[in-house]
Amino acid sequence: MLTRRALLKSAGAGVVGLALPNLSGLSTRAAAVGQATAGVPFYYCFVPRASQVAVTSFVAELPIPPTLQPFRSDANTDHYRLTMRAASATIIPGLSTPIYGYDGLFPGPTIRATRGRQVSVQQVNTLPMDTVVHLHGAHTRPADDGHPVDVIPSGASRFYHYPNHQQAATLWYHDHTLMHTGANVYRGLAGMYVLSDEMEAALDLPRDEQDIPLVLADRIFNADGSFYYPTGHSDGVLGDIQLVNGAPFPRATVATRLYRFRILNASNCRVYSLSFADGRPFTQIATDAGLLPAPVTRSAIDLAPAERVEVVVDFTADPVGTTVVLRNDYGTGQAAQIMRFDVLRAEPETVTLPSVLRPIVPPGDPVTTRTMALSFDPVQGWLINGKPFDASRVDASPVLGTTEVWVFANLSGLAHAMHVHLVSFLILDRDGVPPEPGEAGWKDTVLVHAGETVRVIATFAHYPGRFVFHCHNLEHEDHDMMNQFEVVLPTSP
Ligand code: C2O
Ligand code: CU
Ligand code: CU
Repeated sequence: MLTRRALLKSAGAGVVGLALPNLSGLSTRAAAVGQATAGVPFYYCFVPRASQVAVTSFVAELPIPPTLQPFRSDANTDHYRLTMRAASATIIPGLSTPIYGYDGLFPGPTIRATRGRQVSVQQVNTLPMDTVVHLHGAHTRPADDGHPVDVIPSGASRFYHYPNHQQAATLWYHDHTLMHTGANVYRGLAGMYVLSDEMEAALDLPRDEQDIPLVLADRIFNADGSFYYPTGHSDGVLGDIQLVNGAPFPRATVATRLYRFRILNASNCRVYSLSFADGRPFTQIATDAGLLPAPVTRSAIDLAPAERVEVVVDFTADPVGTTVVLRNDYGTGQAAQIMRFDVLRAEPETVTLPSVLRPIVPPGDPVTTRTMALSFDPVQGWLINGKPFDASRVDASPVLGTTEVWVFANLSGLAHAMHVHLVSFLILDRDGVPPEPGEAGWKDTVLVHAGETVRVIATFAHYPGRFVFHCHNLEHEDHDMMNQFEVVLPTSP
């Protein structure tokens, strides 16, 4: 008897199983991010077909998702409500796109939180299916984490409580329903959650109008403007139309100032290599889970699904009228150019970037090392240590408060964006080589290249209970590259 799950797996297996043993065979399948040539990382996503609409680059204005307002604030908590609902978005000029969005928006409204003040979000699910909401990068109790089987039934609502005891970081919330995360996020269920703290607020960094979220997501469009999402593919779906904050290949008007961009890769599969067409650098100030010890100047930044970087970009020396394109050097065709910044206003800049940000306090000595082997099986799908996801099985049991090294050993021919719930980690090394300065900060997601071994270190502090870790290529996650860990209380001697 074949379950739907088994059918989906075998559908995916047909595609991936053939290709995996031979990477050079993959390149003939018109479906690559990056190139399978020497020296260039190889990322593979499935391109089901081209969009049936055309859109001109750099015409749409970059939208900024609205900031969600609390319906009540008391001494220590801001109370919010979000309604997951079907809505219609205008993305392609002249057409409307049915979406599922938080408050009917894609991306959802931005939640702005401050360390030390708690946030409560009532999530109201008016969608025709059960959903789960996960706050990615947050240190929360298991009941508030959005475990993939801990659903909000269709028609019901639920309160998620976020303690916000961690340091300032760019987090994001998104759907996490077992086996349907890829489809649900693709339909629009994702939004930003910006956490600030006193130390970060005291730094001389661009703020307000000069502090801009950039939510990157690629999509395929049908001729009528609707999203096209192929179900049953386990490879990772690649879209040919690049959206930023929900607008296709947009342009943003900027002044002759410094800008802080909080860049989130919310694409299901696509890995970006970000650069500016005129060669200007990024000054990177943060990784996924918070500020770097010091700013890092980079000419190109790789960004895997779910990773975030915060960068400062300098337009102060640009004559009014300058335009600069943000590129994706792993993109092809139109998708190689993400968006354009148009410098249209001369304004004085008073911000002077600090040379020191936030020191990293390294975790204590690890008590355990666990290896997580990443592989593919033609029958079972994407696996961690040979196992598909099973909510009734616990795959690792770190003791509360202890530090562990996790070794992601990628035995497969494709890259995986490995994400661990509950904790922030530091990368120890990639194949024995310490991380570049731009990766040497707190993270919750790390790209593990084909054949590579990446070691990370984390302290399993905060809360006992069951959480997941998984690949954030959402089709890999849905087909089945997710395991479960349980933080356990120390047993008394
Ligand atoms: Cu953003 Cu478990 O994921
Ligand atoms: Cu997460
Ligand atoms: Cu993966």
